Amino acid sequence: VGQNFITIKEVGSTNNFLKELASNSKPVIEGTVIMAENQYAGRGQQQNGWHAEPGKNLTFSILLKPIFLPVTEQFDLVRAVSLGVFDALEPLLSNKLKIKWPNDIYYGDRKLGGMLIENMIQGGQIKNAIVGIGLNINQEIFPDHLPGAISVKQILHQDYDLKGLLSEICSHIEAWYLNLKAGKKSFVRESYLNRLYWLNERKYFRSKGEMFEGVIDRVKDNGILVVKNNNNQELEFSLKEI
Ligand code: BTN
Repeated sequence: VGQNFITIKEVGSTNNFLKELASNSKPVIEGTVIMAENQYAGRGQQQNGWHAEPGKNLTFSILLKPIFLPVTEQFDLVRAVSLGVFDALEPLLSNKLKIKWPNDIYYGDRKLGGMLIENMIQGGQIKNAIVGIGLNINQEIFPDHLPGAISVKQILHQDYDLKGLLSEICSHIEAWYLNLKAGKKSFVRESYLNRLYWLNERKYFRSKGEMFEGVIDRVKDNGILVVKNNNNQELEFSLKEI
C-alpha cells in the first residue's frame, strides 16, 4: 500500500477520483494511494459531506482488490482498515483511542476520523474496493456544526507531518489486509472487537428515535451490531440504525 502514490492539490473527492481511475481501461495497481491537499467536496457516510480544512488534514483513498473476500464477509475489510488506522495512531494517542462501530476512529468521546469504503462488485466478487479515509490532524478549529470533532493537534498541541503519518497508516493497513488475505479471520475479528468504543459498558443508545439502555455485546461476522438491553434481550442493528 502506497508504492504507487499520487498527490493532488485539489479535487472534489479522492474516492470519486480513484473510482474513475480504476474504471478506465488502463489498469491501476492494487495499493495505489491518492492523497488530496484540498478535498472540497468530500463525502462521508450516509450521504453526509466530509469537512477538512485544506492542507491540514489527511484525506486520501486506497485502491484494494480483495477478490479473495466473499461479498458476505466484506465487513472484514472495514475491520482490517480500521485496525490499520488505529495501530498507526496508537503510539501517539494511546489508550483513549477507540474504534467506534462501524468505522469511526474516536479519541475519548470525539471523532478523529472516519472512512468510506466503496466496493465495486462484479460477478459476485469484490473487484475493486475504494477505501477512503479522512483524519483530522493539524486542524485547530472546527465549524460549529461539528461539535464532536477533534484533531491530533488539539490533543497533542503540535503539528504532524502529513506524509509521514500517511506512510505509517499505509504500512499498518497493509499488515492487517495481509492478515485477512492469509485467512486469519478470527484474529482480525477479535482484534477489532477488543478496540471497540463502549464495548461491555452500560450506555444509552438511540434507535429509531427511542432511547434504551444496554451493552454492546458483539459484532456479528457480517458487521451487524448486537446490543443487549436491560431485559437481556439481544437487539441487532445494521449500519446507522443506532
Ligand atoms: C465518515 O466518517 O462519514 C467517513 C468519512 C470519509 C472521508 C474520506 S476523506 C477521503 C475520502 N474521499 C471522500 O470523499 N471521502 C473519504
